[in-house]
Amino acid sequence: MEVMICPTAQEVGERAADLVGAALARVSGRPPTLGLATGSSPLNLYAALGRRFRSGLMDPRALHGLALDEYVGLPADHPESYRNVLLRTAWDVWGLAPERLHVPDGSARGEVALAAGARAYEDLIAALGGVDVQILGIGANGHLGFNEPGSSLRSRTRVKRLSDRTRRDNARFFPSWEEVPAHCVTQGLGTITDARRLVLVATGDQKARAVADALEGPLTASCPASVLQWHPDAVVVLDERAAAFLQNRSYYDAAAQGLPGGEAASAREPRPAGEPDPAAPAPGDERS
Ligand code: F6R
Repeated sequence: MEVMICPTAQEVGERAADLVGAALARVSGRPPTLGLATGSSPLNLYAALGRRFRSGLMDPRALHGLALDEYVGLPADHPESYRNVLLRTAWDVWGLAPERLHVPDGSARGEVALAAGARAYEDLIAALGGVDVQILGIGANGHLGFNEPGSSLRSRTRVKRLSDRTRRDNARFFPSWEEVPAHCVTQGLGTITDARRLVLVATGDQKARAVADALEGPLTASCPASVLQWHPDAVVVLDERAAAFLQNRSYYDAAAQGLPGGEAASAREPRPAGEPDPAAPAPGDERS
């Protein structure tokens, strides 16, 4: 796991966009797939990525977007459905065809139909060749996607109940508490960690505790984002505030410099689908 700490939230977006854009540009032989998080955290990243697309880093028109999650029960035209939020904040801004943005189906009625939609979403991810780069935010309670504390570390896409903490955090987008959805369909932690590269962005004081627990605490379902420790190619980009409780700060800063005269590890090629990561650290290698 690599940790980059930037002076401002704006720079978090720029650095993360460099990582995401470079990894997408290297995909060959099939359309690249980008995993998308919703929420405030990736907004600077989405804006910066749009600038890179416009500057010709890559032609994004072949891109497939795969959202992490969707609320259950919101009508398709609801402005806060995650499909609509992603269209508004990323996909439409990048000028991409809406049918290439894929979002779990939260509109089905009843558990059986929702579960069938969740399985179909897993099949779609596989049919598209898996996720090349997954953008992630982190909840103040350590959730990843909408995998709330207690979620299985191997879980797949499924219906989850949102915690009251998460509903309170998201209540700002809804006119009343009653209208804040209580359920979602979310990629599981197993699904998320199948992505070839993970790029998590977090900014602000309210994320500092969860970030420290996820990066430096135990690997545990009590802090779902700690599953990043298990992934062979995860990069975490933070602002100073979100990094405030990290114990190993000086190490992260030194490691982010890379080899003298060489490229930083984050600039390495992402591994092709199904191939082991040749740069994966050996057990006990403290660079991991
Ligand atoms: C949403 C998602 C969530 C958010 C998290 C942080 O797709 O995956 O895990 O990333 O709730 O939300 P913000 O960025 O709004 O603080």
